[in-house]
Amino acid sequence: MDVWILESAEAVAIKAADICAELIQRKPDARLGLAAGTTPQALYAELIRRNRLGQLSFSRVETFNLDEYLGIGPQHPQSFHRAMRDSLFAHVDIDPVNTHLPAGDSVDPAAEATAYEALIRARGGIDLQILGIGRNGHIGFNEPGSSLRSRTRVKTLSRATLRDSHLPKPDFEAPVMAITMGIGTILDARALLVLATGATKAAAVAAALEGPLAASCPASAIQLHPDATVVLDMAAAAELRLTDYYELVDEARRRLTMPCR
Ligand code: GLP
Repeated sequence: MDVWILESAEAVAIKAADICAELIQRKPDARLGLAAGTTPQALYAELIRRNRLGQLSFSRVETFNLDEYLGIGPQHPQSFHRAMRDSLFAHVDIDPVNTHLPAGDSVDPAAEATAYEALIRARGGIDLQILGIGRNGHIGFNEPGSSLRSRTRVKTLSRATLRDSHLPKPDFEAPVMAITMGIGTILDARALLVLATGATKAAAVAAALEGPLAASCPASAIQLHPDATVVLDMAAAAELRLTDYYELVDEARRRLTMPCR
């Protein structure tokens, strides 16, 4: 695991954009795994800025989002389809045909989940998966208790996730579900880029990076990935115990020309 602890949320966005840009420059037809939510918004703004400056082209990039709420269509204001269009796709030179999210309004959600998993595989897999972390340690919509080998499927959202979501006030009588890539699906990506900012994420970040590998903290599964980069601001890193070591690695990176982890 490659852990970067940076001064601010802005620095996190710039570092994350550098990692995405490096991939797209090396592989213009890269397949990017994207996350909705608040955390990657500053990254998407930075990617848009670089695209407008002509530094980065998405013309051959293909994207796969982690998840989508069930029962709402792509035009719904709370849908991740809409959020992704508004925060990234509409502002860069990406071909909309190359942007994929699970269809939340599918009449057969289980079949839709299986088809989404098959599509990712058929396209050759994801080169770089961007991940945020829920305050309860979820990744995608893999809530605590999710199998660490799960594939894309329908999941019931926890009350904590609903409280943190932008959905209208939760009605606990009516469970809200989503289609999400599984943890096994996420781990199949060639590289992971995990982002977290702000004090509300500090406990989840510590559990994910330094706690036991456990289904009770789905984000701890990133410990299994051989190429995971974690970029944090100071507030999100506040509860880590191995900070001394991460700083030492950072010093090695600055002093040595070979890649250091
Ligand atoms: C959401 C999404 C995830 C996201 C996470 C963190 O509910 N399903 O893809 O990464 O929770 O969200 P945020 O970045 O808004 O804190």
